Amino acid sequence: MFKKVLITSGPTIEPIDPIRFISNRSSGKTGYYLAVEAKNRGIPEIVFLTGPSHFIPPQATVIRVETALQMREQLRSHTGTSDVIIMAAAVGDYRPVSFQPEKIKKHADKLLLELVKNPDLLLEIGQNKRPGQILVGYAAETDRIFENAEKKLVAKNLDLLVLNQVSSENPAFAVDDNQVYLISRQGTRSLPTMTKAETAVKIWEAIDEIARLVKIQIADETGRS
Ligand code: CTP
Repeated sequence: MFKKVLITSGPTIEPIDPIRFISNRSSGKTGYYLAVEAKNRGIPEIVFLTGPSHFIPPQATVIRVETALQMREQLRSHTGTSDVIIMAAAVGDYRPVSFQPEKIKKHADKLLLELVKNPDLLLEIGQNKRPGQILVGYAAETDRIFENAEKKLVAKNLDLLVLNQVSSENPAFAVDDNQVYLISRQGTRSLPTMTKAETAVKIWEAIDEIARLVKIQIADETGRS
C-alpha cells in the first residue's frame, strides 16, 4: 500500500511581461482524475502540485505554482518522500530569456522573443530515483511514437510511460476522452478510447502491478546478497 503520492498537473506558464505569458493547452484534467482515483484507493497522502488550472481535487495537499522553475523548487521538497510520482503536468519546455518588468509596447512591426530551455524535471527525478520508488511520466508524440517513447522510458529511468499519440482524431489536450498506450519494461498496452477518469483507473492498476513486480525484484536482490 502506498503512503504518499506526488502528482503534478496542469500547464506551466512562463511570464513575458506583467501582462503576457506563454503556456500550453493543458487543462489539468488528467492530473485531477489521477488524484481522485488515488483517493478512491485509500492512499493517505496525496500531494497535488499544479500549474494554473480549475481542476483541483478535494482532499489533497494542493501546491500551486506558475513556472517550471517554481515547480522544480516544490518538487525538491516532496520527491524523496513519495512512493509514487506521476508527472502529468505539461511543463513548458522553454521560457523567455528575460522577464520584461514593464509592459512591452507595440511599437515594432516584428517582435522577436528569445527563449531558453527549461530543465527537464522528469529526467532529474529519474536520475535521483531511489530503489522501490515508482516514477510515471507522460509523452506526447506525433511520429515514430513507440520508438520515441521506449527511448524516453529508458533515458528518464521511468517505470511507466503514458503515451499520447497526438493527432486530429486524438488531440489529447483539454478534451474529456482520449486514447493512450501504457509503456513499461514489461511491454506496451493499448487502452481503448475512454474518459480521463476511466484512464486514471487503468493507470493506477498498472502502477499497482509494477509495484508488485518491483517488490519481488528487490526481495530477490536482497535475498541473493
Ligand atoms: N516534462 C518535464 N520537464 C520539462 C518538460 C516535460 O518534467 N521541462 C515532463 C512532463 O511532465 C511529462 C513529460 O516530461 O511527464 C512530457 O514529455 P514530452 O512532452 O513527451 O516531451 P519531452 O520528453 O520533453 O521531449 P520532446 O519534447 O523532445 O519530445
